[in-house]
Amino acid sequence: MLSRSALRAVTANARTFSSSASRQTKVAVLGAGGGIGQPLSLLLKTNPLVTSLSLYDIRGAPGVAADVSHVDSHSEVTGYPADKLDEALEGVKVVVIPAGVPRKPGMTRDDLFNTNASIVRDLAAAVGRVAPDAHILVISNPVNSTVPIVAATLEKAGVFNPKHVFGVTTLDVVRAARFLAGITDSNPNDTIVPVVGGHSGPTIVPLLSQTDKGKSIVGEVYEKLIHRIQFGGDEVVKAKDGAGSATLSMAYAGAKFTDALLRALNGEKGVVTPTFVKSPLFADQGIDFFSSQVELGVDGVEKINTLGPLSAEEQKLLEACLPELKKNIEKGKAFVA
Ligand SMILES: NC(=O)c1ccc[n+]([C@@H]2O[C@H](COP(=O)([O-])OP(=O)(O)OC[C@H]3O[C@@H](n4cnc5c(N)ncnc54)[C@H](O)[C@@H]3O)[C@@H](O)[C@H]2O)c1
Repeated sequence: MLSRSALRAVTANARTFSSSASRQTKVAVLGAGGGIGQPLSLLLKTNPLVTSLSLYDIRGAPGVAADVSHVDSHSEVTGYPADKLDEALEGVKVVVIPAGVPRKPGMTRDDLFNTNASIVRDLAAAVGRVAPDAHILVISNPVNSTVPIVAATLEKAGVFNPKHVFGVTTLDVVRAARFLAGITDSNPNDTIVPVVGGHSGPTIVPLLSQTDKGKSIVGEVYEKLIHRIQFGGDEVVKAKDGAGSATLSMAYAGAKFTDALLRALNGEKGVVTPTFVKSPLFADQGIDFFSSQVELGVDGVEKINTLGPLSAEEQKLLEACLPELKKNIEKGKAFVA
């Protein structure tokens, strides 16, 4: 016979299980066969908030799915080949897109535009057709342009919901915390830095002055740290020597952002993280997408926070960011127009 406390524990577990099981959250990864897609799919398989995982790629997704499906978490995993995109998207609540080509040494993210713009546009059109209410998390670069491409494609189809489209800039936030922790000999949990703006070189604006550990960094150390956060991706591209860009740290960052969104969609309050969304902050200057601290809620974007107080250096970084970001956004929009 079970003791009263054991019985209480069993009942509580049953309740947790039935409430989480009743929230069917199907997540799709488009580009699941790639360098980011594979580890991202693995990490999402281990997330208890994912009940079903749909893996799609123009090559290799069924193999990745068969492999990942053996991990002993409760979600179901299905892989879809190139001609089964619509099937992959049926009933999905969250779509993560790491499809497209990565950088080689010497390339900027904008150099990827010609290849990735049409990949992202076509995938967004399929989401708009099959799962118009889904939340779309864009990893494919150049994020500053691919997010406006997704938005404009959905707008054309009459299904754009600005609360549901996100550019994943989490890797910049992850790098900033890690690099600041390194130079202050701290735990990265204590060096979380809001990173705002966009996701490429000078459009990446770390707000070190808004963190306890960061505000004391000055002079050459400050300049070097900012440069490293803005161009940290180049370190990986160079070290991989032609074999691609960040995949493992990006998969981690993508899984972290997806988890934040899923927690918020499931009712958790106070989930706030930088992400590149349709934003009013600089819309009067023609820059209608921007990354700032965004509060996530049961319907995606709940509140877009303003930037807060900036130091003189950060004001300069912001001034360098805005014109570049504007160009990137306009290029994305023009592609779909
Ligand atoms: N947001 C960020 O912080 C960040 C960081 C790193 C990389 N990235 C970007 O992520 C993207 C993917 O990088 P990767 O290293 O995984 O590249 P990869 O080449 O290893 O993988 C890309 C995958 O996309 C697939 N693909 C191509 N066209 C497709 C389509 N139409 N539908 C479905 N799948 C398709 C390919 O078959 C491949 O498996 C690149 O654009 C890269 O620049 C973004």
